[in-house]
Amino acid sequence: MKAIVVTDQAAGTAGMKLVDRPEPQAAINDVVIQVHASGFVPTELTWPSTWTDRLDRDRTPSIPGHELAGVVTALGYGTSGLSVGQRVFGLTDWYRDGTLAEYVAVEARNLAPLPGDVDFTVGASLPISGLTVWQGLFEHGRLRAGQSVLVHGAAGAVGSMATQLAREAGAFVIGTGRAADRQTVLEFGAKEFVDLENDALEDVGKVDLVFDVIGGGIGKQSAGLIRVGGTLVSVVGPPEARPDGGLAVDFVVESDRTQLSEIVERVRDGRLRTNIGAVSTLDDAVAAFNPTERRKGKTIIRVLPTPLRNRQWHGDLPGDLRPI
Ligand SMILES: NC(=O)c1ccc[n+]([C@@H]2O[C@H](COP(=O)([O-])OP(=O)(O)OC[C@H]3O[C@@H](n4cnc5c(N)ncnc54)[C@H](OP(=O)(O)O)[C@@H]3O)[C@@H](O)[C@H]2O)c1
Repeated sequence: MKAIVVTDQAAGTAGMKLVDRPEPQAAINDVVIQVHASGFVPTELTWPSTWTDRLDRDRTPSIPGHELAGVVTALGYGTSGLSVGQRVFGLTDWYRDGTLAEYVAVEARNLAPLPGDVDFTVGASLPISGLTVWQGLFEHGRLRAGQSVLVHGAAGAVGSMATQLAREAGAFVIGTGRAADRQTVLEFGAKEFVDLENDALEDVGKVDLVFDVIGGGIGKQSAGLIRVGGTLVSVVGPPEARPDGGLAVDFVVESDRTQLSEIVERVRDGRLRTNIGAVSTLDDAVAAFNPTERRKGKTIIRVLPTPLRNRQWHGDLPGDLRPI
């Protein structure tokens, strides 16, 4: 099968290569998926799990990409809950070969059914951003209606979903980003926007929850904005400062079938818009992950292209992917 591999940690995304790899076999409780669309987070290439297995042995060449939408083609011994031919989406194991490939083996419990009216491209854009936000806001952040939330990087893949889901939950959302992101962030449902390049973060006042996708100095400064009893949730490593009288939490997203289903239902009924930027093929994936100019939204790799006339429509797809 065709797959993207990495072998050189220092090379970053420029070191990605399109090669031929053997098709994966289904282990106990696995399914093999024909990947239709794949998502990738560039920081994966800095995570130890991309380079070594759980015993810290070199596992290169490894296939990156850990979110997918596709169709089940085989079941492993003992696998239940999914069937061959079923449309699915979800998050794959950080320590196994990933989804920038024509096929991937993944434990069935990591996947949820993808409803027939949701395009594979949309499905592949949801697992990492959607689950990270769900877990960050509702599990780690214990967000409740009426609270205020500061969402950093609110025009990005994770931040735009955090903005929408926090607002739907009845929170007052303040989004941050670069000056050019103001309109995008307000359109995703933030009530206020803070331009991190020109505005003073401390002018925000006190909030109940900070959802941080940036870290560094911005994360550190944000700890001081949290009310007593509030929480700083970071998805970019342990916070450098803790809020006075509050909690600081950092976590790595986990698979959850029920949460995936909650997320995709919101996409279907229009409560949640996904944030897809570029859509590329597997052949062009390396170039797509090494853009020469700033790109907004998530890059999705359409591994198995479908003819335009057969493609299911979804309003969130970029204009060039909508049926004619
Ligand atoms: N822990 C976990 O489980 C987990 C899960 C998912 C993601 N993550 C991490 O979360 C981070 C964000 O992921 P993403 O997919 O949302 O990325 P993304 O789509 O690039 O979004 C990040 C947003 O923040 C903005 N931003 C970054 N630094 C900024 C700064 N100094 N000032 C103003 N705006 C700034 C970016 O603007 P520009 O594009 O202009 O830089 C972009 O709009 C990544 O580091 C990723 O690894 C962690």
